[in-house]
Amino acid sequence: MSEKRTPLMAANWKMHKTLAETKEFFNSFLPKVENLDDRDILIAPPFTALALSKKLTESSSVILCAQNMHWEEKGAFTGEISPLMIKEIGINWVILGHSERRHIFGENNEVIAAKVSSALAHEINPILCIGEKLEERELGQTEDVLKVQLESVFGTLSQELAKKMTIAYEPVWAIGTGKTATPDIAQQAHAFIRSWLSNWFDSSIAQKVRILYGGSVKPENVESLMAQPDIDGVLVGGASLDPEKFSRIAGCKIIN
Ligand code: 13P
Repeated sequence: MSEKRTPLMAANWKMHKTLAETKEFFNSFLPKVENLDDRDILIAPPFTALALSKKLTESSSVILCAQNMHWEEKGAFTGEISPLMIKEIGINWVILGHSERRHIFGENNEVIAAKVSSALAHEINPILCIGEKLEERELGQTEDVLKVQLESVFGTLSQELAKKMTIAYEPVWAIGTGKTATPDIAQQAHAFIRSWLSNWFDSSIAQKVRILYGGSVKPENVESLMAQPDIDGVLVGGASLDPEKFSRIAGCKIIN
């Protein structure tokens, strides 16, 4: 049984955009995506631009999202942001386990699982990023890596909570490199993730969870990716910084 999942077109701005640039982006972007009601559009600005973004988008349906958070509500954690702080400014979404957090800042699967549990406990919707490195793909270890990343997080969740998750498959070798996974390669990984969810929980959970693709998504390749049956949306870095490019991605033709 397959279920229709609402496409989710998501932007991760990473460490980009001052307040002035954020304002300029939304002034240009919002009129371009006004009547797109068959899909969700989500933007993850840096923390400093979240409150302003919330204000600028209040009369639109754009969803705003944090790029990270700590698992504790408060404490001596210099430089960190807590779930309560995110909620207080009206943000209900967070990206967790991004490969840059894993590989540059050393977050491991246990830390990411703690963050996911905390987000869910605070009614913040996590977008869990998973994906293999180039050497892991070349050694034929892609599915093993994905399995460990999935199990470390979903192994701690009830079925009820698992339903609230969104997954982003982001092969590390495709992030910021201009090398997009072919639609076939991406579909294969997405199908693996969905079948893993089906085996771990059941097919109703697997059919419900949205699985996004991320890694060098551009206006030119988004439609062929979105045409794949298990690709429910995209998570876009570089091309999401430009309102013209991201509006073309967010508004792309979706056939399935
Ligand atoms: P790029 O689109 O720049 O490859 O980044 C992808 C990404 O990391 C989104 O989270």
